[in-house]
Amino acid sequence: MHSLTPTPIKLISYDHDGEKARHFTFGLLDPKAMAAPEPGQFFMLHVPGAGAAPFTFTRPPDSQGVFRALVRQMGSVTSALFDCEPGSILGVRGPFGKGWEISPLKDRRVLIIAGGCGLAPLVSLTDHLIMQQYCNELVLLYGSRSAAASVLNPERERWGKDIPVIDILENRGHKHIGLTGTPMDAIDMVINRMKAIPDVLLLCGPEIMMQSVAREFVRRGLDAKQIWLAIERRMHCAVGTCGHCYMEHQYACKDGPTYRWDALQKLVARQSADRQAAYHC
Ligand SMILES: Cc1cc2nc3c(=O)[nH]c(=O)nc-3n(C[C@H](O)[C@H](O)[C@H](O)COP(=O)(O)OP(=O)(O)OC[C@H]3O[C@@H](n4cnc5c(N)ncnc54)[C@H](O)[C@@H]3O)c2cc1C
Ligand code: FES
Repeated sequence: MHSLTPTPIKLISYDHDGEKARHFTFGLLDPKAMAAPEPGQFFMLHVPGAGAAPFTFTRPPDSQGVFRALVRQMGSVTSALFDCEPGSILGVRGPFGKGWEISPLKDRRVLIIAGGCGLAPLVSLTDHLIMQQYCNELVLLYGSRSAAASVLNPERERWGKDIPVIDILENRGHKHIGLTGTPMDAIDMVINRMKAIPDVLLLCGPEIMMQSVAREFVRRGLDAKQIWLAIERRMHCAVGTCGHCYMEHQYACKDGPTYRWDALQKLVARQSADRQAAYHC
């Protein structure tokens, strides 16, 4: 049973990382206060006086309890966080949710496609896969609105030494000489580079992007069971009790946020059928 009482953390520092986004470093006051998260698991960050919101660990707590998260400023909680100075005491609960399934990636040819801040839930997984040389082939395609909006530039630069990292920007700035468009526009190029469709596809980003990309890969012959994605839902308790993230007998906070594409499609189809039935009765 998870406690709803937050554990105290200190805001150690932050780096500006893209438009309205910062990469924060936090430290648990008691380094042993939190279980080790798996890649893709998230925590609830409590900002006193503002509330709580879910974020993914980009680096899990080390032996000193120091961990990192990339946060884009959206509304009340994130704005209050952006007003905090290093040294501020905040709260944390977690780790929560199901992380990425790692065993299906062993010795496979894996393509990761992320959009915007959707790269955050894939950071510790990518680090793990590269460090362990876990996959036969690993390629990252990262889509962003513009160079200014791109996040996690140091991480992509670091990964680029070990794996192909392909960036695509929706709005080409006058200095940009790379690809222009959305990840959908780069699929042919990436498949050519990989010489064939990948064995496994991992997706995280705007839901519309993930759906179009997943459908396109299925159309090209990839089994839906080989596609995994992470979704975002409004979350409050993160332990399956408040119902904020309810999706057809599932709670995204406990049963997600990572799902296999075929399972998620069934879930969403059942949910919209139920909604239509409720509307007509
Ligand atoms: C499992 C999970 C992991 C996440 N990881 C990260 C992360 O690593 N980095 C990061 O920057 N963000 C992450 N998010 C999103 C982040 O939690 C929200 O942006 C945050 O709740 C905003 O809080 P706020 O109070 O500042 O904004 P709010 O005032 O809550 O919202 C501002 C705007 O964002 C919309 N919004 C807020 N939350 C969601 C949501 N879950 N789904 C769709 N729309 C939403 C609101 O409708 C509103 O338009 C994650 C979300 C989930 C569910
Ligand atoms: S956030 Fe409360 S049930 Fe999922």
